[in-house]
This record gives sequence, structure tokens and C-alpha cells, in this order.
Amino acid sequence: MTKKISVIGLGFVGLSLAVVNAQKGFDTIGIDIDNKKLTNLRNGNPPFYEIKLEEFLRNSIRKKKIIFSNKISSIIDTDITFVTVGTPTKNGKIDLSQVQKVVLEVAKVLSRKKQSHLVVVKSTLVPTTTNDVILPKLQHLRNIRLAVNPEFLREGTAVQDLLEPHLIVIGEQDKQAGDALVKYYKSFYKKLPEILRTNFITAELIKYSNNAFLATKISFINSIANICQNFPMADVTIIANAIGKDPRIGPLFLNAGPGFGGSCLPKDLSALIAFSKNLGDTNILLKAVQQVNKTQPDKIIRILKQMNVLRKNKIISVLGLAFKKNTDDVRESVSVSLIEKLLDYGLSIKVHDPMATQNFAKLFHDRIIYCKTIKDCLRNSDCCIVMTDWDEYKKLQLADFKNLRVPNVIDSRRVFDPSKFSKINFRAIGLGV
Ligand code: UDX
Repeated sequence: MTKKISVIGLGFVGLSLAVVNAQKGFDTIGIDIDNKKLTNLRNGNPPFYEIKLEEFLRNSIRKKKIIFSNKISSIIDTDITFVTVGTPTKNGKIDLSQVQKVVLEVAKVLSRKKQSHLVVVKSTLVPTTTNDVILPKLQHLRNIRLAVNPEFLREGTAVQDLLEPHLIVIGEQDKQAGDALVKYYKSFYKKLPEILRTNFITAELIKYSNNAFLATKISFINSIANICQNFPMADVTIIANAIGKDPRIGPLFLNAGPGFGGSCLPKDLSALIAFSKNLGDTNILLKAVQQVNKTQPDKIIRILKQMNVLRKNKIISVLGLAFKKNTDDVRESVSVSLIEKLLDYGLSIKVHDPMATQNFAKLFHDRIIYCKTIKDCLRNSDCCIVMTDWDEYKKLQLADFKNLRVPNVIDSRRVFDPSKFSKINFRAIGLGV
């Protein structure tokens, strides 16, 4: 019999998960407390952009495979409940209030049920949380099995990542819980991805280690980029390509840039550092990773100083506001912190982004100028900084910059070929001049 799925918390992970389940043919209930969001979803409108999400959502609504509710009680008619509420950081520490509240309610509802029910926590939890905080709220109920199942999907490719994960990690209460989740995945995938079954704490630590390692790779290459900038012709992109050929290193996540942003890497790094601190460990490596990331935008400021444009009333054009391409998400985007600093210097800022302008305007209101086209953004400004690696920026040619008042271009994402841009005052992160 096809399983019925409920998903509590329709943020990035939860909504993507619910919609992909419905698209796969599972009867799915998406649950959230935000009624406005639910109304929009019922009308087929997701609150954020993600490739294929809207198409799959509308398709699933039409086929009556997905419904939305604000009532946790509706999980009672389903077989598996995924918990995907947020675990944000407060003062560098993880805030578990949402997940605690939801699990308590889930326990209350499921105490009225006789049949077995699998509860799967996908929210990122600091190590020991499942054992110490989640399990005690559920273990008195004989019919409930608990598993944690950390999610590794990336924004911009969420649907594809759910359909083709590189690994499924299951932290299980007992064999029965793990077997139940594997059974579900067997019905979800035609070709079952690799599955790793382990205990709660190891599963929790896998998620943090994964993100901390990715963050480390980025801060590492940014440190090399900072060395390169001191030596004419030294080029971090060539170095990254070379070291990436070593199978022990690998080519991915070695793009130097303005630093990592987004809703996960900065948050998970802070939470792991705070967790280590509680264990009496200063975790100097991860603190250094964080510190490199925090100071990376200063490298752009230094170039602006060298270009002599860090002066009151100069106009700067920023191309790219999203924390990476193919998303409208501006959470922890380096463009936010950079523009705050530039405004402090009294500069006028013009910005462009193919998708994220609306979200950015919620933060900066009328303090900066929002441009619909790249051409408008570049017109009459004293310097252009590329902050996001959108494909349409990669296509820009030298001629596209002719409207700048002064031909200063800073490529923080290494999207341009330096040999083609050497005719203008071109500087790039990780490229010595
Ligand atoms: C990340 C993890 O990749 C994912 O597994 C986890 O589930 C959630 O967090 P995401 O936040 O979508 O995913 O973004 P990611 O693609 O990891 O990029 C994070 C940041 O690092 C972005 O700002 C990106 O531009 C930056 N980055 C990435 C670099 O600066 N250089 C790189 O080589 C790669």
C-alpha cells in the first residue's frame, strides 16, 4: 500500500520534500503555521524560487496528491511524518524551540493512534539533541518509531538533490525504525541510493561535519586567494584547478570568492563551534574558517581603496545580491555585509540581480538604487563589483562595461577571463596585478 506522508514545516527543505513526494505519487500533507503561505501554496505559488518546484507543485495540486493544513492533528491519517521546522541560531547557539514544540504536539496527536507511525526528523540538530530532547518526548508511545535523516540538499538544485541524493543517512532509534524508513525509500526510488544506517549522534555529527568541511574548503581556497593577490599574475583559479586534480582533494568547492553565505554553512559552523565550546574545546580550526569568511569582504574594500573609489559620493554598481546563483535567497549573502560597509563609507550603491532584488529591498529599502537591467546598473558608476556568479554575468563582454564613468571592474567570483579584461582597470579576488 502506498504510504501517506506528512511534512511539518514548509521552509526550504520541507516544501521541496513535500512537493517531490507528491510528484512521486505519495499522498502528501504539507503542514505549516503560516496561513498566508498555505493560501499561496494552495494556489500553486511557492514562497521562494527553486527549479521545477512550482511546476511539480501545480501538477500535484491538479492530481490531488498534495494538500496543505495548519493542523498537526492531520498527521494522524498518514504513515510517516517528516519534521522539517527551522533550527535557527540565536547568539551563535542553536534554537530548538520550534522542533521541541512540534515534537510535543506530534506525541500528543499520535497518542490517540493505535497503528505504527514513523517520525523522521530532518531539521538539523546539534549532536545529542535527538537522544536528550526529542526521544524522551516520544518514547513512551509504543506505536512510534523515531529516525533522524539529515538533509544535504542545496538551494538552487533542491528538487534534483532530493531525486538523486549522493547518500541517505539514517540515525535510527532501533532496527525497526531504520527498516521502516528504508522501506519508504525503496518505494520512493527506482534505484535506491547508498544508505548509511547509524545511531542518532553519529547521524547528527555527519550533517555538521559535512557542512563544516565544505566551509573549510572555501575558507582554505580564499586564504590562498589572499596570498595570490600580492603577487603579479598569481592566479588562484589556476591553482584550484591544479590541486583539484589530486583525487585526495577533488575539484569541487574550490572557487575563491567573497566568502560563503546562505542559510546553512554560516549557521551550522557557528552551532558546531558553540557545541565544541561546551565540550571545553576551542576548535581553533573551525574558528579560523569562520574568521577567514568574516574578513573576506574586506579584500574587496581594499581593492576599492586601491582604485581610489572608496570616497563619499562615488557610485558603485553591485551585480549579484543572492548568496549564490539560481536562487532568490539573500540570507547571509555577502552582498548584504559588503553593501552595509560601502554605505558606511558614504558611497552611492546601484544593484542588479536576476531574481533576488525584491528580497534585498526588504532589507535595504530606499538606501540603495535597484536596477532592472545590467546596463542601467552600470551606467555612470565609478566601479562595478560582481558578487554572484549568475550565468548572465559570465556572458558579459568588455563592451558591456563601456557605460561606466571609470572602467573599474572587480570580479569577486572569477567569472571573467582576466586576459580579455586586462584592457580596463580589472581586479579579481585571488588574482595578483
Ligand atoms: C549548503 C550545503 O552545500 C548543503 O549540503 C546543505 O544541505 C545546506 O548548505 P547551500 O546553502 O544551498 O547548501 O549552498 P552551497 O552551494 O553549499 O553554497 C554555500 C555558499 O558557499 C554560497 O555562498 C556559495 O557561493 C559559496 N561557495 C560555494 C564558494 O564561495 N565557493 C565554492 O567553491 C562553493
